[in-house]
Amino acid sequence: MNAGRAKKANLAVFVSGRGSNLDSIISSCADGELEPLARVALVVASKSSAAALEIAESSGIDRFIYSKDIPLENLLAALADRDVSFIVLAGYVKKIEDEILQNFSGNILNIHPALLPKFGGKGMYGKKVHQAVIESGEKVSGATVHYVSEVYDAGKILDQETVSIDADETVDSLAVKVLQIEHELYPRSIAIALRSL
Ligand code: GAR
Repeated sequence: MNAGRAKKANLAVFVSGRGSNLDSIISSCADGELEPLARVALVVASKSSAAALEIAESSGIDRFIYSKDIPLENLLAALADRDVSFIVLAGYVKKIEDEILQNFSGNILNIHPALLPKFGGKGMYGKKVHQAVIESGEKVSGATVHYVSEVYDAGKILDQETVSIDADETVDSLAVKVLQIEHELYPRSIAIALRSL
């Protein structure tokens, strides 16, 4: 008997800011690496001002604003209502609660704009990371996709991509270079993770 094509995974993408990785994931679900594997069922934002929410809205994707005053139970219910099986952090700056880690054990990925295990940890996000990389005199940087554990940026590494740092590199130019590779790396890594489930 033909079992047919496996059911697509429902992803929740967690964001706090601009949402360019969210955009690349949505595109990849429509016509790319993730097309046969997943759809974005929910975008969770840590604040209502996150520009990523506009990307979700224009793509017709449900949004949930998980600001300080919203109970965790409400978020868990929103995830369950959409049958979410996999969580993708894309520029999300809040800590993931233990209950979410337990409910989605081994099914949460994060992208970090440097080559972990270097330049990670609490408070290391966005331009602060690139600043630290340049100040340290590194010749290479990149992006890392890793599974999320209870310790910031310390879960098992799934994939990495590198960029070279030029002599006249600035924080802004490095940020642009790294973001460019993130947009390829993240959909590819999510596909690897979903295929291995
Ligand atoms: C990305 O560069 C991502 O790697 C970084 O935030 C940016 C989000 O951009 N994440 C971290 O620094 C996490 N520690 P985006 O909102 O355009 O996807």
